[in-house]
Amino acid sequence: MASAPEQFEGFMIHSSEKWSDFTKGKFTPKIFEDYDVDIENECCGVCGSDVHTITGGWGDLAVSPICVGHEIIGKVLRVGPKVKGFKPGDRVGVGAQVQSCMKCPQCKSDNENYCPHQFGNGYRADLADTYGAPYNVGGADSGKPMKDRDGNQIWSQGGYSSHSRVHEQFVFPIPDNIPSYEAGPMMCAGLTTYSPLRRAGTEPGKKVAIVGIGGLGHFALLWAKGLGAEVTALSHTAGKKEEALKLGADHFVFTKDKDWAKPLAFTFDFILNCADMTNEFDLKTYMSTLAVNGTFHNVGLPDKPLPEMMAQDFAPNGSSIGGSHIGSKKEALEMLKLASEKGLHPMIEQIDISEAGCKKAVEKLKINDVRYRITLVGFDKAFHKK
Ligand SMILES: NC(=O)c1ccc[n+]([C@@H]2O[C@H](COP(=O)([O-])OP(=O)(O)OC[C@H]3O[C@@H](n4cnc5c(N)ncnc54)[C@H](OP(=O)(O)O)[C@@H]3O)[C@@H](O)[C@H]2O)c1
Ligand SMILES: [Zn+2]
Ligand SMILES: [Zn+2]
Repeated sequence: MASAPEQFEGFMIHSSEKWSDFTKGKFTPKIFEDYDVDIENECCGVCGSDVHTITGGWGDLAVSPICVGHEIIGKVLRVGPKVKGFKPGDRVGVGAQVQSCMKCPQCKSDNENYCPHQFGNGYRADLADTYGAPYNVGGADSGKPMKDRDGNQIWSQGGYSSHSRVHEQFVFPIPDNIPSYEAGPMMCAGLTTYSPLRRAGTEPGKKVAIVGIGGLGHFALLWAKGLGAEVTALSHTAGKKEEALKLGADHFVFTKDKDWAKPLAFTFDFILNCADMTNEFDLKTYMSTLAVNGTFHNVGLPDKPLPEMMAQDFAPNGSSIGGSHIGSKKEALEMLKLASEKGLHPMIEQIDISEAGCKKAVEKLKINDVRYRITLVGFDKAFHKK
């Protein structure tokens, strides 16, 4: 079996003051364990979470330098002795989670994305993230920190890099008819939107609204339509209308229009909020468009708290607010099958990976100038000298 190099290479950030100044550097991957899969990375999507992380919006950098990126596609180079699902040469993907305990009730019920051995303070996942998480020997809850030769803690590092080393539970096989640059963003943006839509019972007859047509939101339009719902895009950017309709929206509503919500009172069974600035929203207006017992579900994770609400605000339609964290492997496989069988294609901008390419990608995302996801490509030239 071909092996990965002892150190991996990546485009890294040293401080959140210089959040778009990437430099190419080396890092030590986790120690190769029995269930690990070594991957030669081919491309990586650029997620809003990468920007929150490197700008310090969610708190200080967990480790510096840090290599972000959790929408990774690549080719398997070698597998550990206990790996059952993969062999060298397979095309695979990795999303935003690379560890869990594998033993708790959540892990045993296809809810490993809710394993309690991963969450630190609030929304910040400390023990399981694809980048910025400290590894433990043998899994997330072993209590034995994984150290390098010099005795330093080994941290997870992401996919703006040459290689990945990941437990097979968090590696997904990619169907042949999905190109890598489209499959990359499915690993986080795709899964994070597929999981709550599926769990909400999205199907023909249901009315679903998607708020914030960015990386996550544009996948949500594809999936909601693919699952058979009547879909409405709610966007604060009028220019996104035509593409939202192409992606699967039946209706487009510009949320800067005065009184936009009035004709939509009591309409939606489920609102999936993929926007990043919910702290600035008039949430009561959004909630007023929910049908009786409808849910306003957040996958967008803004830097600031949600607007204050009164318990009374949920009374007029018996509505609820919820949220979710990525998705499970079971859901990832289902999502890939749906995309493959229905020929669902996201809208992707490709940028060659380099110090300048990474800078351009995160700066475009920060100013809402991406239609609708960037995938960093050209890894052969940057890393593999092919
Ligand atoms: N829960 C999870 O597991 C999970 C996983 C991945 C990412 N996330 C989070 O999901 C969020 C979205 O990520 P993304 O990669 O999709 O980002 P993105 O591409 O920047 O999309 C965010 C969208 O939010 C809307 N928006 C931005 N500024 C706004 C404002 N001032 N007012 C109203 N709407 C605004 C925009 O849509 P319109 O122009 O259409 O309004 C924008 O396209 C981020 O917070 C990210 O960290 C969560
Ligand atoms: Zn992400
Ligand atoms: Zn667990």
